[in-house]
Amino acid sequence: MVTPLAPQQLAGILPRQAVRMVQDALQAAGCPDADYDARELLRIAAGKDPRLLFDPLTRPQAECLAELAAQRMQRVPLQYLAGEWNFLGLTFKVGPGVLCPRADSEVVCETAIELLQQMGKPEPRVLDLCAAPGGKSLTIAEQMQDRGELFSGEAMTGRVKLLKQAFDRCGIDRAKPYHGDATILNPAFGLGSFDRVLCDVPCSGLGVIGKKPDIREKTLDGIENLLLTQQKILQNGAKYLAPNGRLVYSTCTVNHHENEAQVRQFLQDNQDFSVIAPQIILSGMRVVEYGTLFLPHETSTDGFFAAILERQKNC
Ligand SMILES: C[S@@+](CC[C@H](N)C(=O)[O-])C[C@H]1O[C@@H](n2cnc3c(N)ncnc32)[C@H](O)[C@@H]1O
Repeated sequence: MVTPLAPQQLAGILPRQAVRMVQDALQAAGCPDADYDARELLRIAAGKDPRLLFDPLTRPQAECLAELAAQRMQRVPLQYLAGEWNFLGLTFKVGPGVLCPRADSEVVCETAIELLQQMGKPEPRVLDLCAAPGGKSLTIAEQMQDRGELFSGEAMTGRVKLLKQAFDRCGIDRAKPYHGDATILNPAFGLGSFDRVLCDVPCSGLGVIGKKPDIREKTLDGIENLLLTQQKILQNGAKYLAPNGRLVYSTCTVNHHENEAQVRQFLQDNQDFSVIAPQIILSGMRVVEYGTLFLPHETSTDGFFAAILERQKNC
């Protein structure tokens, strides 16, 4: 049992001492990035960058900081406590039930954007098969500006609502959110007609254990069904792709069976596809034969995987 900090412990002390005390408390509660979080909590409590704070903490600041620290110790995400989060240069309002962008999403988005930028087509057609809550679709839509079409699919009805809300909030009317199971092929969309397809598949989430500690309690029992779903979504995604089109397969896990092994199997069945190396470079990322792997201890991001697959011209 870890004891939360009391406001009277923090009132009247210097900002750097307060950061140290909050850091120690967060560390004792098992929070992974205690140093960063402590400085962010002080920034929220004082409304200013802690490097610009010199006076001892006032009583209201101390009360606010103690309350924020107590919530963070209970693992309330930092983004929720801040109420907003910066993502690819955009400020998002976040909270329980609404969009909460993550560092890994940011890199996958950049990969997707990189693909879009290379399209050079005036009216690209883009399909995001597993789109909710919408982080990557929003970023793609932003990049597409007023060109082309973006279809954003999601199998869970409640989460389609999240997608719609996210597009409405950002004033994006170009994207078309829809309810659909990506394991079932939908010829109505037009097979072979999309320039870019994103398969950001459901996964075991082993790469985000640091931020979602409950994942530790999960076992990989039943993973076979998940593996089948992932492979089916990837295989279907490829069928929507036009010749020369590119697909991104991504997960937020570091599990080889959900990552490299899925791409290897896909390439065995689809010899008209090949893996393309990413152009973005993040220190520590591993470009391997079947995609790119981001390991938290090497990239200082969540753990995740992304593979860019290109369909050859005349197939
Ligand atoms: C990793 S999340 C996607 C995150 C999203 N791309 C983003 O950037 O915000 C996977 C999503 O796929 C959805 N999903 C699961 N099975 C699906 C299926 N068979 N077809 C379509 N979506 C599915 C889940 O409900 C979940 O919202």
